[in-house]
Amino acid sequence: MSYWFQDPGIKALLPLATSTSIKGLTTFFNMPALVIGANSLAESFMPQPSIIDIFNSRCTTRRSFFVTDEFSERFALKAARVLEGAGFTTFIWNKALPEAPIENVKECAVEMVKFEPDMIFAVGGGSVIDGAKGAWVLYERPDITDLGQVHPLNLLGLRKKAGFAALPTTSGTGSECTMAAVLTDTATHRKVPIANGDLFPDIAILDPEFTLSMPPKLTAGTGLDALAHAVDGIMTPASNDLTDAMGLRAIRLIFRYLARSYRNAKDREARFRMMIAATMAGTCFGQNSCALTHGFGHAVGSLFGIHHGLSVGIFIPYALQYYRSVTGKFLDICDELKIEGASDEERFSRLVQKIRDLLKELDVPLSLKGLGIAKGAFETRMEDMVLFAMEDIDTFFSPRPITEGESEKILRYAYDGMDIDF
Ligand SMILES: [Fe+2]
Repeated sequence: MSYWFQDPGIKALLPLATSTSIKGLTTFFNMPALVIGANSLAESFMPQPSIIDIFNSRCTTRRSFFVTDEFSERFALKAARVLEGAGFTTFIWNKALPEAPIENVKECAVEMVKFEPDMIFAVGGGSVIDGAKGAWVLYERPDITDLGQVHPLNLLGLRKKAGFAALPTTSGTGSECTMAAVLTDTATHRKVPIANGDLFPDIAILDPEFTLSMPPKLTAGTGLDALAHAVDGIMTPASNDLTDAMGLRAIRLIFRYLARSYRNAKDREARFRMMIAATMAGTCFGQNSCALTHGFGHAVGSLFGIHHGLSVGIFIPYALQYYRSVTGKFLDICDELKIEGASDEERFSRLVQKIRDLLKELDVPLSLKGLGIAKGAFETRMEDMVLFAMEDIDTFFSPRPITEGESEKILRYAYDGMDIDF
């Protein structure tokens, strides 16, 4: 299988996206319609416009296809019940697998084609939503056989058959408000990020009650994913004032509420604010890209089977330290978090320490070694890690360009938990 991010022509165009000479000539800011709150899927009459009004206006055949997994199926059932009560026909496909393997996505698309929905509902964590996006592409465009070739320059022309609604059950991925989906090619152990402006969902329903049953480890991992989205989304040269506003507020919310929701799963205020934070962080990076947290996180995560949020979260301090020599934009984050200091350097050190303190509070190790990756396996996989990180689309949006040698060095520093000093 080939991947669009290996195409030299597309690669050559990517730096233009971050060029200060053309940035701002045309800027798109896309978001789904957001429906927020524990009453979003009310089954009884409410004296206000309801979710049904939205779907009534968008659906003609009123056939709703739900993509979910066994864990989130109960939430899909709740949403389906609300739609069925209003006369919609529903079908629930509950076989979505973690990390959205492409073969699994294709199986989902086969069922979608049989059912012929005019609205697709993705109910679950990031993998479910991402996999549903992939299946949506295959449903709308049967001529596309290679999902690895779906990139930002394709003219996909989705929505001729169905719209797309996302109902996240975790707070982190941001997929409910991005144009991206990360699939997995199990044959090559590679993450395959696909991206296209058509992949922004039409509607995102943020019901914090859906996140109450997340176990602590998943709460920590997904929350750190959101933090990585916001930090990279701010630091990348592709950022702008609108995305910065989203990212900075998300960071403030994450520092206030992530540890709280980790310690107490039933803390409804913390769950609610983390859901908002994840969507804001998703909106921040979703307009442009992440950078090295995800370039390295994807590489290490896919080769060693580490949860996405955990693998990108560990790289936040290392990425910031690598960016430091070319940008002072971290000061915006310091301002947002009220991190003072006698000099920029002191403020930077305190910011990095604050992030490490949060990792510790979440019982997340600060190094790859701490994750339990054996030294021998780490060395054996070094060449692949460097290749995957260098080819990763997020790496192209790093504020500081990176060579293969520097990538290897960062990986070794991150393995031992050493500060980046080059
Ligand atoms: Fe992510």
